[in-house]
Amino acid sequence: MTEETAKFFRQYLQSESVFSDKKILQSNYVPEEITHRDEQIREISRMLAPALRLERPSNLFIYGKTGSGKTVTVKHTLASMAAVAKEQDIPLKVCYLNCKLKKVADTEYRLIAELARKFGKAVPTTGLPTDEVYNAFFRALDEERQIVVLVLDEIDQLVKKVGDEIIYNLTRVNSDLAHAQVALIGISNDLIFSNTLDPRVKSSLSEEELIFPPYNAVQLQHILRSRASRAFKESSLEEGVLAKCAAYAAREHGDARRALELLRVAGEIAERSGSMRVEVTHIDEAEEKIERDRLLDVIKTQPKQFHAALAAVLALCARKKHVFTGDVYEKYKAVCHSTGQRPLTQRRISDILAEMDMLGVINAKVVSKGRFGRMREIALGIPSSLLPQAREIIRMELGISDTVLQEAAAQETLETFEPPLQVVEE
Ligand SMILES: Nc1ncnc2c1ncn2[C@@H]1O[C@H](COP(=O)(O)OP(=O)(O)O)[C@@H](O)[C@H]1O
Ligand SMILES: [Mg+2]
Repeated sequence: MTEETAKFFRQYLQSESVFSDKKILQSNYVPEEITHRDEQIREISRMLAPALRLERPSNLFIYGKTGSGKTVTVKHTLASMAAVAKEQDIPLKVCYLNCKLKKVADTEYRLIAELARKFGKAVPTTGLPTDEVYNAFFRALDEERQIVVLVLDEIDQLVKKVGDEIIYNLTRVNSDLAHAQVALIGISNDLIFSNTLDPRVKSSLSEEELIFPPYNAVQLQHILRSRASRAFKESSLEEGVLAKCAAYAAREHGDARRALELLRVAGEIAERSGSMRVEVTHIDEAEEKIERDRLLDVIKTQPKQFHAALAAVLALCARKKHVFTGDVYEKYKAVCHSTGQRPLTQRRISDILAEMDMLGVINAKVVSKGRFGRMREIALGIPSSLLPQAREIIRMELGISDTVLQEAAAQETLETFEPPLQVVEE
């Protein structure tokens, strides 16, 4: 066995990799050139340039779908501006924060404390009144005559977590500062986010607005090509691979992140299968793998009640191909009983089932049962190859043993021989 294992490792080392530098395909890699965003780079530069003359630029709100290059373009433009500022001794500071980061942007306190820290004021991680944290941050800012460009990326996530007051406060800082001035750049993946803001907040954040349109398939191909040429060894991509990646990623919306991920995963699949080249068929496999991983990820990040409802569906579907919402509810209550959760109402579980349907975890269809009315029939949407992993997630999240799921299923066959009909509202 050991000899065999060692042989595997030796062979692995000898086998050729299709990659020359895989990290170039990772989404946090900062590319040297940014294509198809000249107009956006020009606009952002034009809006921010007054900062170099120590005039406060307008606040800027940038939005566009995921993978449309917002983050990379803003970082790139600000880096150029900061470099010029440094070269000319201009007191300009750029501060970038991604609001999706856990532990940094979960609460108003944490975010402002993080900002204060970035400007050299240590604030305890908890305990102070929020006002005081703001004051510490303002004092830190105001210690020098300077222009600060503060980027809040994925600002929609922040507002979802803590509300929009924090943005209001940040857009107001200038009236409290004597020496420093702050311009805010908010970036959102959510296109209708700004409509949910309080009108005052909206108008101060969007003094200027810029939209990033999705890339089309041709543009995605260009982006892929410039990254692939350095990430892969020469001639390790079959003809048509990049075009297919681009076409897939352009299907929903032109998502460059998705395109790069597809290419990277296809490369990994090619490598694992011992192929010397990435072939077009590897893209299909990669697409499938990504979808699967995504489904498991989606399941994992849902709340506990979702997991309990899914445990019920899994238990029932282990025995029958189609189940009905009424059965699911009964089973769900049984699951709650064994986990000590308080069951939600049937109405709420109906909503959760609708969500599962939307996420592709189940497929629900409304069927007519003559005089019994209409009812929802549910089939599992999780492919059978993923079921063991899905069950494992549920077990871990709910802290239940396998037998609970199985027993629940076994009981089911005894109890409900004929599924009770249930009328659902349309
Ligand atoms: N025009 C471009 N040129 C090169 N790489 C790009 C371009 N647009 C996006 N990317 C790459 O695609 C990925 C997603 O871009 P990102 O800026 O994070 O999108 P967004 O912030 O809009 O979701 C990143 O890896 C980024 O480097
Ligand atoms: Mg981004």
